[in-house]
Amino acid sequence: MPSNNSRRAFIIRMASVSATLAAGGAMAEEQLEGLGSAASARRDGPVRFDYGVASGDPLSDRVILWTHARRRFTNLPVVMRWEVASDPGFRRVVSAGLVTARAQTGYTAKVDAKGLHAGRTYYYRFRTLFDVSPVGVTRTLPRAGVESVKLAVFSCSNYPAGYFHAYGEAVHAGAEYAVHLGDYIYEYPANGYASQDAAALGRTSVPATEILTLDDYRRRYAQYRSDPDLKQLHARVPVIAIWDDHEIANDSFVTGAENHDEATEGPFDVRVAAALQAYHEWMPIRTPDRSDLKKAYRSFDFGDLLSLHMLETRLLGREEPISLLDLVNPATAPAALAEFASPDRQMLGQEQVSWISQRLYESDATWQVFGQQVLMARMEFPVSILQALNPSNTSPEAIAAGARAVNDYLAAKATAAINPALLTPQQQALLNPQINPKLGYNLDAWDGYPAAREVLLGTAAALGKRVISLAGDTHNAWHSDLTLLDGTKVGEEFATPGVSSPGLEEALAALPPAQTTAIFRGVIDTLKFCDTYRRGFLLMTFTAQSAQGQWYFLNTVKSPTYTVAQDYTASLAA
Ligand SMILES: [Fe+2]
Repeated sequence: MPSNNSRRAFIIRMASVSATLAAGGAMAEEQLEGLGSAASARRDGPVRFDYGVASGDPLSDRVILWTHARRRFTNLPVVMRWEVASDPGFRRVVSAGLVTARAQTGYTAKVDAKGLHAGRTYYYRFRTLFDVSPVGVTRTLPRAGVESVKLAVFSCSNYPAGYFHAYGEAVHAGAEYAVHLGDYIYEYPANGYASQDAAALGRTSVPATEILTLDDYRRRYAQYRSDPDLKQLHARVPVIAIWDDHEIANDSFVTGAENHDEATEGPFDVRVAAALQAYHEWMPIRTPDRSDLKKAYRSFDFGDLLSLHMLETRLLGREEPISLLDLVNPATAPAALAEFASPDRQMLGQEQVSWISQRLYESDATWQVFGQQVLMARMEFPVSILQALNPSNTSPEAIAAGARAVNDYLAAKATAAINPALLTPQQQALLNPQINPKLGYNLDAWDGYPAAREVLLGTAAALGKRVISLAGDTHNAWHSDLTLLDGTKVGEEFATPGVSSPGLEEALAALPPAQTTAIFRGVIDTLKFCDTYRRGFLLMTFTAQSAQGQWYFLNTVKSPTYTVAQDYTASLAA
């Protein structure tokens, strides 16, 4: 029997030989510089690419490539050669260089691979002397003569809540690029939000505590990135991503978050810095400003067909959300309303508003698309309903009062549509916006920042632009008109269901989904479609003639086996 040491050396050599064969033979002598030696490879062990590869932020001549690499036996940095080829066998390498995965970046490595041609598919990988990563497929942005673009849109992927089938299905559906609108991870402890099935699914959160430190956030990303569907998406499709709140803490704004307590969890800024460092390490994002990781807003031009503007709505400008209860309580309403309606109330911050205004002015693309987190459409309910629906009171009497308020309002609307002369004085009052004004029910969304929304949509309208808003956050699917305060239509919002986070079917468990849909569609004038109970993703197809949204829904995220249905499609003509 060979000794343990020599057996280990033998295994390493065998692993190295097989990896080298898999990589297409040994590298030429001049390529080896910086990649260590056979002796160091034996000492440090083979390199593990446990989280696969990823690409993102494509431009017409470059794309970000990502991997994570560690030696099996040591914590030494891993120097790698990255290669981009026009063929899957890497016979025609078109761009290459060296990059290092080291402890300072949590052993992640990113490179901006340049010198590529527009609108092309490329293959990429990372190699050491004896080891090679899985091969990824990516695509640059097209520059001219673009006939169509297919974007898969995702949000709210909660690992303990269920399987990430949506990611794999988007690859099968032919997505050319992916947009992730945030809640890519969740910050909660293992016994926290949406974790009741985690143990049964084998998806208990790591670490078990709520994540606060850089090491916590890194470990959470590592767990999510071990998911096979997410690995597949990243290896096959370039991803353009922006965070929402849960990459930091629930309902984040500039100076704090609903789920952050400075007394027990330390300064919010320290947590934000840790969360954003981990985000920029683990996501294939270009990091527009290294001196300020919050500045993640950026644009992607797909020739003259569409400009995708990724907006940051959490940490740069957003003021603290206003409580709906304060707005509908007569005692607190005047002060809350003054703050709510202030023309100075910020969502993006002045600098980002200037930037997006300039980008809208400059871009002649047919479609101006906002890739952003929270619903921009008006999800407004009359105060008569909001006052009756007291979320802290779930007694049968309170629920009955809420149902009565909904029925009374819908009956008044129906009567007005048939013959306004038949309206009773009470019904006239219900439909009078002076007496019974409408308010968004979720003030963490753009409904909580009406002046900021009017500035953004008003700018687009003044410039004659056609706007599409892509949104996430709610875990449910929505399709709505985007309107100015005076009712002028500026564009449409296509909102993706969550990948796995529970939606209204959980919050409104007493209502059958058909009834929930009937209420939302009945009350909200600008809402064209909603699905309030299924997870999935949205596939957007842009052409010069139309912007089409196809919603894909899964029957379950709680089982490895599932079915997928594509049963709602909406098209907006250019
Ligand atoms: Fe979410």
